[in-house]
Amino acid sequence: MSLSKHYLISGGAGFIGSHLAELLLQNGHRVTLIDDLSTGSLSNIHALIKRKEVHFIRSKVSETTDLERYIEECDGIFHLAAAVGVKLIIERPLYSIHNNLHETECILTLASKYKKSFLLASTSEVYGKSAKSRFSESDDLYIGQPALLRWNYACSKLMDEFMAIASWREYKTPIVIARLFNIVGPRQSGRYGMVLPRFVKAALEGSPLSVYGDGTQTRCFCHVADAVQAIALLLEGSPPTGVGEIFNIGADSEISIADLARKVISLTRSKSQIEFIPYEKAYPPGFQDMARRKPSIDKIRARINFSPKYSLEDIIRDIAHSISCNSIR
Ligand SMILES: NC(=O)c1ccc[n+]([C@@H]2O[C@H](COP(=O)([O-])OP(=O)(O)OC[C@H]3O[C@@H](n4cnc5c(N)ncnc54)[C@H](O)[C@@H]3O)[C@@H](O)[C@H]2O)c1
Repeated sequence: MSLSKHYLISGGAGFIGSHLAELLLQNGHRVTLIDDLSTGSLSNIHALIKRKEVHFIRSKVSETTDLERYIEECDGIFHLAAAVGVKLIIERPLYSIHNNLHETECILTLASKYKKSFLLASTSEVYGKSAKSRFSESDDLYIGQPALLRWNYACSKLMDEFMAIASWREYKTPIVIARLFNIVGPRQSGRYGMVLPRFVKAALEGSPLSVYGDGTQTRCFCHVADAVQAIALLLEGSPPTGVGEIFNIGADSEISIADLARKVISLTRSKSQIEFIPYEKAYPPGFQDMARRKPSIDKIRARINFSPKYSLEDIIRDIAHSISCNSIR
């Protein structure tokens, strides 16, 4: 009996979506990718779309012709399409809110109608301003006020989580929620405010690495190859693992952003300097940042034996290698 399945990935031409598509193909599945290329890129999937097991649809999720038929025919849905990146969500808050809420509502409604397995890519941002040293899935959430920038993304993703859980409660839609923490690796774009691709690119060019604030804020970085393993494993089972539940996915070793900049400079043997830019200059008034954001990964470790395999050094080398290869092409 063949275990091959057919998955739909919204946001499939994005950074995480394209890596997930590759993994699902490696695992013997077929994939349909829906992407409007708003932040994703055809270059992320150029090798994939030549394959007969891959169907690519360039469209907004909600405007996809025959979306209902694609949902009916697939075995499961990875919903990754969203407005992503601090810069984008600050510059285009209304678009970001609308994109994150409306597109999720549209695809989740159809997933519920056909009882399809549905993984929602959520975010560590939903933990908001919590000062806890490690965030657990059962924590209460502490979001900043609407008048301040940034929180629109957290709230829209949180409403997506509420919608997914309500679909599970009311319609028994087999949903799983993955809260992703700083997923990084080759193909991630620095254009929308992602720190690591921005640092590595600057280091390779010999230009200054801009650290916002004093650089003492810490983050935990997880290689995209580790993250997509976990994401795929959650939905591939029949039934999926942890239906109706939330899982943190990330790495749990912390580094300050200033130390990250130093590490990037050292590993790329760059002559770049670090420049510290006050938040007031980097962002419009009212931007808030968090001092720490570290996941507890006890739950996902216990459930699917997840443990990140790639170190931060591996990640930086992989990103540097991919940026160098792309600039040679
Ligand atoms: N990278 C991270 O560290 C991280 C952290 C937390 C959460 N996430 C979540 O993971 C998911 C993927 O993020 P990513 O880092 O790969 O970013 P990305 O920007 O590379 O991927 C998002 C993709 O969705 C597409 N898209 C956006 N709106 C769409 C729409 N309405 N219809 C069709 N396609 C649309 C974009 O073109 C893009 O290809 C997002 O839901 C994001 O919120 C990512």
